[in-house]
Amino acid sequence: MLHHIPNQNLLTITIIVAVSENNAIGKNNALLWHLPNDLKFFKNKTWAMPVVYGRKTLNALNNRPLNGRLNMVLTRNNQLEVSGIIVVNDFELAKQKAISLGYRELMVLGGGEIYAQTLPYAHKMYITRVHHVFEDADAFFPAFSEEDWYLTSAFQYFADEKHAYAYTFETWLRKI
Ligand SMILES: NC(=O)c1ccc[n+]([C@@H]2O[C@H](COP(=O)([O-])OP(=O)(O)OC[C@H]3O[C@@H](n4cnc5c(N)ncnc54)[C@H](OP(=O)(O)O)[C@@H]3O)[C@@H](O)[C@H]2O)c1
Repeated sequence: MLHHIPNQNLLTITIIVAVSENNAIGKNNALLWHLPNDLKFFKNKTWAMPVVYGRKTLNALNNRPLNGRLNMVLTRNNQLEVSGIIVVNDFELAKQKAISLGYRELMVLGGGEIYAQTLPYAHKMYITRVHHVFEDADAFFPAFSEEDWYLTSAFQYFADEKHAYAYTFETWLRKI
């Protein structure tokens, strides 16, 4: 099925996130779960794409770029230099960079601060819903109004020996 994605700027903004039932995404600058199938999903969706994420998420990635992707990191620190990463001080600059390099989609990888700031501009979301409540998280995905979005696909997987929690891959498209 084809969907029309509202996109007046030639660049689709796509959020990708794994989030618990209570909107938790992390604790102590790390993920709260290890779900190998979600890591594969993440790699498939982001491969060869421009990606943008916050400086704390860069720290969580051991300050190394994700291979096979155009890495952009948001920071207010003008001194930051990291090999293999384009450092930007403004989300708008990340968008302009992606457009200038000929990309039509920019993937937002988090974390909590960056999701909160970019959600109003997002056209599409890949949400891996992790079916568990994590009480002691310290990073969260912002609440969003489901009325503003179409849930266009949802595939649920059960917990198994490699996955401690059940999880659902959801695709959301913003209503025009
Ligand atoms: N579950 C998931 O899918 C997922 C995905 C990604 C991350 N995470 C988790 O999320 C947590 C990290 O999230 P977080 O909210 O603490 O941090 P974050 O969003 O990764 O990064 C925050 C940093 O981004 C920079 N920043 C924020 N707004 C900016 C702006 N408007 N302009 C320029 N720079 C800006 C600042 O860097 P400076 O301080 O350097 O100025 C700020 O400290 C970790 O636990 C991580 O594991 C989870």
